Parts: sequence; C-alpha cells; structure tokens
Amino acid sequence: MRPSRRGLLLGLIQLHTAHAFYLPGVAPSSYDKEQLVPLTVNTLTPSISREDAQLHAVVSYDYYHPAFRFCAPEEGPKWVRESLGSILFGDRIRTSPFELKMGVNESCKAICPGKVMDEKSAQFVASRIEQAYKVNLLIDGLPAAEVAEDLTTGEFFNSPGFPLGRVEDDGKTKILYNHWDIVIDYHKTTLAAGKYRVVQVLVQPSSTAVNRYIEPQKGACPNGGPLVLNENGGQTITYTYSVYWRESTMAWATRWDKYLHVSDPSIHWFSLISSTCFALLLLALVSSILARALHKDIQRYNRLDNINLDDLNGTSAVDDDVQEDSGWKLVHGDVFRSPRYPMLLSVMLGSGAQLFVMVGFTVAFALIGFLSPSNRGFLTTVSLLLYTLLGFVGGYVSARAYKTYGGENWTLNMASTPFFVPGIVFTMFFLMNLFVWSKGSAGAVPLTTMLALVGIWFFISVPLSIAGSWFGFKVPVPDPPTRVNQIPRQIPPGPSSLRPIPSILLTGILPFCAIFVELYPILTSLWTGRIYYMFGFLFICYGIMILTSACTTILLVYFLLCAEDYRWQWRAFLGSGMTGVYVFIIALWFWVTRISFGGLTGAILYVGYSALIGFLVFVLTGSIGFVSSYWFLFRIYGSIKVD
Ligand SMILES: *[C@@H]1O[C@H](CO)[C@@H](O)[C@H](O)[C@H]1NC(C)=O
Repeated sequence: MRPSRRGLLLGLIQLHTAHAFYLPGVAPSSYDKEQLVPLTVNTLTPSISREDAQLHAVVSYDYYHPAFRFCAPEEGPKWVRESLGSILFGDRIRTSPFELKMGVNESCKAICPGKVMDEKSAQFVASRIEQAYKVNLLIDGLPAAEVAEDLTTGEFFNSPGFPLGRVEDDGKTKILYNHWDIVIDYHKTTLAAGKYRVVQVLVQPSSTAVNRYIEPQKGACPNGGPLVLNENGGQTITYTYSVYWRESTMAWATRWDKYLHVSDPSIHWFSLISSTCFALLLLALVSSILARALHKDIQRYNRLDNINLDDLNGTSAVDDDVQEDSGWKLVHGDVFRSPRYPMLLSVMLGSGAQLFVMVGFTVAFALIGFLSPSNRGFLTTVSLLLYTLLGFVGGYVSARAYKTYGGENWTLNMASTPFFVPGIVFTMFFLMNLFVWSKGSAGAVPLTTMLALVGIWFFISVPLSIAGSWFGFKVPVPDPPTRVNQIPRQIPPGPSSLRPIPSILLTGILPFCAIFVELYPILTSLWTGRIYYMFGFLFICYGIMILTSACTTILLVYFLLCAEDYRWQWRAFLGSGMTGVYVFIIALWFWVTRISFGGLTGAILYVGYSALIGFLVFVLTGSIGFVSSYWFLFRIYGSIKVD
C-alpha cells in the first residue's frame, strides 16, 4: 500500500521534475577536469531554530555585510544577473573568491586570513548565530545544502544553506563555524568524453580555533577545539574550506529531487483528500438544495402566471392566497439594481478577474513543469509578468461591470482600475521596504528594481488596462432578464442569521477551510526560504477554493433574496472575500506559534506582508463570489416569466 500511495503522490507533486530541467536557460553546464566551477554567494537567511523549532527573525543580510568578515574577491564582488522575481524574493547573488576545480580535492584552504573582529561586529555575528542564520552558497547554481532528517518519516533530504554557527548548551557561548567542508558530487556525462556535471553539493561546517592557514597540513586539517566567539572583539578570524569531489551515479536531471522534500506527505495527502471530499459534498449539497427549491419555485411562479391569465379570461376560480407570490421572485424588479459604490465594486472586480486568471495560469504553468526550482525566482517573475499583461482583462471586466450598473463616469473608471488595487499593494510594499532599508538588511529591494517595477506598471500594465476598459465600454452588455423598477422596494426585516456581519463571516469560512491545508506549507516556505513546489496540491486547492467560494456565495445570495433583501452585491463580494481576512488571521496564528522574534521591523514586515497577501486573496475570492452569484441570478431570473 505504501509504495503505491507514495508513487501516486510523487506523480502528482513531481509531475514536473522529470522534464522540467531541459528548458532553455536551465541547460546543464558541463566542466572539464580541473576547470573552475563557479561558487556564488547569496544572502544569509534566518532559519527555524533547532532548540525551540521557531523562527527568530525574518530579515536577511548580505553575505558581504562587513560584520561577518567574509572574504570578498580581490577586485570586489560582482553581481550575478538575476530575474526580477529572484530579486523581489530576496536573492542577492554575488561572486566569491572560492576556487573550486572540477575533480580536484583541496584541504584547509584559507581565504583572506587573519581578519580582526571588533566588538560591534562580534556582537552582531553572535546575535545572528543565536537567530540560527544560514549561509547560502550556490555551486553551479545548486544551493549548498545540509543533510536533514525528517523526524516523522526518517527520510533524509537536502535542506539548502548551512548554519553560521551554533549556541552551546549553556545558552551563552557562541561557536562560529569558520571551516566549511564542501562535498561535491559530480557525474560523468555520457554525451561527451571527459565532461563532468555537478549533481549535489553538501556542506559540513565546523569550528576550529587553530589558525590553520599558517601551516596547512596534507590530507587532514588540524583540530584545535571550537572557535568561541569573543563578544568583546579583538579576535582574529580566518575562514578556511576544504573541497571533496566524489563521483556519483546521480543523473543531472534529478539533482533537485533531494531538495524537494515533502514533510510528512501522507498527512498532506489525506487532508487534501478530505478537503476535496468536503468541497464536493458542499457542491452536491448546494446544487441539490438549489435545484429542488428552484425547480419548485419556478414551476409555481410559472403556474401562477398561467392562472393569472386564466383569471383574466374569467375561466378560473382559485383562492386568492395561492396567487400571492413569495420569495425571490418578489425582488425581480430590484436584484439588478445598481449597488452602492458601483465604481469601487467594478474596480475591485476588474483586479479580481486579473488575479484570478494570473493565479490560474501560474499554477498551471508550474504544474506542467514550466517553473523549475533551478530557475530562481522564475515563479514570481512569471506571475508578475502575467499580471502585467492581464491588465487588459482587468480593464475589460471593470468596464463591463461599471457599464452594467449604469455608471456614468467612464474616465474615472478607466483611470482607477489599473491604479487602485496595484496602488495599494505597491504602497504597502514600498513602505515595508523603507523599513527594511532603514535596518540595513539585504532584503531591501534595490531602487533600480523598484523603478523597473514602476516602469512595467505604468508603461505596460496601465495602457493595457485602459485598452481593455475602452473595449469593455464599446461592447454592449446583455440586458438583465428582469427590468429594474423605478421605485426601490421596501426591504422587510430578515432573520438574524442574514444580518450582514454573521452572514459575511460565515460565507468566507468554508472556502478558507478548503485552502487551509495548503496555507501552512506556503507560509513556511515563504518565511524560511524552503523551496515550494507542491504545485499539484496547489492546483487542486485552487480549484476547490473556486468551487467552495462560488457555492457558498450562491447559497448566501439565494437566502438573502428569499428574505426579500435584494442588496446582494456587496454582501456576496465581502462574504466570499472574508477568506482573505481568515488567511490574514491564520498568518498571525502562524506568527504566534512558529515565529518568535523581537524587534519592530520584523513584526512590521511580517504583519505587512501577511496583510498584503490577505488583501489579494480578499479581492480574488470576493470577485469569484460576486461573479458566480451574478451568473446564478441571471440564470434563475431568466427562467421565470415576469410581466
Ligand atoms: C577526494 O575526496 C573524496 C572524499 O574523501 C574521495 O572519495 C576522492 O577519491 C578524492 N579524490 C581525489 C582525486 O583524491
């Protein structure tokens, strides 16, 4: 049972791994014997501490932050070209002075020997060690990793990065790892003779107090007790490294597999199945309730119409009370009445549609293996690009919605669609970046990247959105199936469960439950830099979320209309959008349970990014709820006769 289940699981989540790596831009590099293999360095990132299983910081630091005393190349480190998404996600990749020659073992090589720590730097490094910061090296584009064990399954996998140091059991003494044993596995290619490829990089950091650079011995490094970081400064620090090349049978195409580890896949798998069942059950429930109720309603309404006709001809004698209509038909003259703030609603709907298509495409791309982990930040780049290009869809949907509700101020609608939601997102992003920047962390997005973002936004997204709006206003909108009456109907007091707040809170909870399974892994990968790749799960989750959002919102709208309350538009949007608020709340819960960090910057960053994600989910799910309800109303009012 176990292997087959696992096989299925792997098939689903690693659909892409088999062929993802032959894409243009990620072609394998082959090296001759003794050819230099590039080692680049990335930022130091916080990781989950081993003692309390919590994350103690969120900002990352540049590798060449002077306090670390890491060695830079003589001519100064150079930036390695990166994609936009990679930069936005905090990668800052630069060259290094390490010299790794394919197949040539080195032992105890010192780089920039004898750097002296001052007090401030020593304290800085000590607190980074305390917060379990990791060093991130890339060798031939492959992250140097540590072997980690999954405690639940006992499996070993590669966890990118290795610790900067460790804290001794007394909780005070900090040991700095100043020696790195780099173990590289290489594979002999069968295509060309004498060509080798890097397939795995493991680093085993250690600490030694002896200044080994003075007299490197052959074979083994001298061992002189750990290097205890002196927090008063004045200490001489030398970083050394050894390189061991091992021949391996691992093929280049599978070199990422060990990094893509699902912690406890069976739990993941079962919760996904249960939420799928839950969603399907909900769908069945909603559709059967609605189908039966609606069928009866529609039949009754249409029968009454016939009776009315007979009545006029004087051939029928039916009790008066049977003719009395009730329920949703009564509000036929008001359901398509324009809601309050049609401008705001249509602008959000436009952005929601844009997000909807973007997420769909991104997840589908990832699923078919278009976005491999070897292309750093590709996922973010692709989604940004898609969002930009889909500006057309945003403008179109916004214009259509606005036109449907008889909006007059077309220019304002055209202008605000590309600026409202992206403007909120960008402003928040910019403000958070100011905080990071003020802290001197490497996580701050460089000004040039910011300008590039603004450029893409203004010169590609805005024109596309305006073109979409123009098009949307040109195309005639279909007439609603029932005409809107001149005078709004009186709304009778409804049951308490349909009051705005409880109904909105309830509607969002179901879609949220459906995506809850996937949220924890996403949050973990977001804040700890673990590679996220379970796109099969994500794809299913996205489908379930759409389904549950649509179902619950339709149900809410149906109940509202049965209570003769026709103000459904905002209720549907907010009710479905509540999912975003729950996502924000769960992110805060994640903070409480998994993260413990002091400092205002970390807290602001965390809350800020969580709010940003929550806001986007709000706009997305809100739009799904609204559009599905609108479709539903079109259907049901189209099937009854109204004089
Ligand atoms: C390099 O070191 C590895 C690991 O100790 C060893 O297996 C390999 O034979 C060494 N290679 C050479 C050329 O000495």
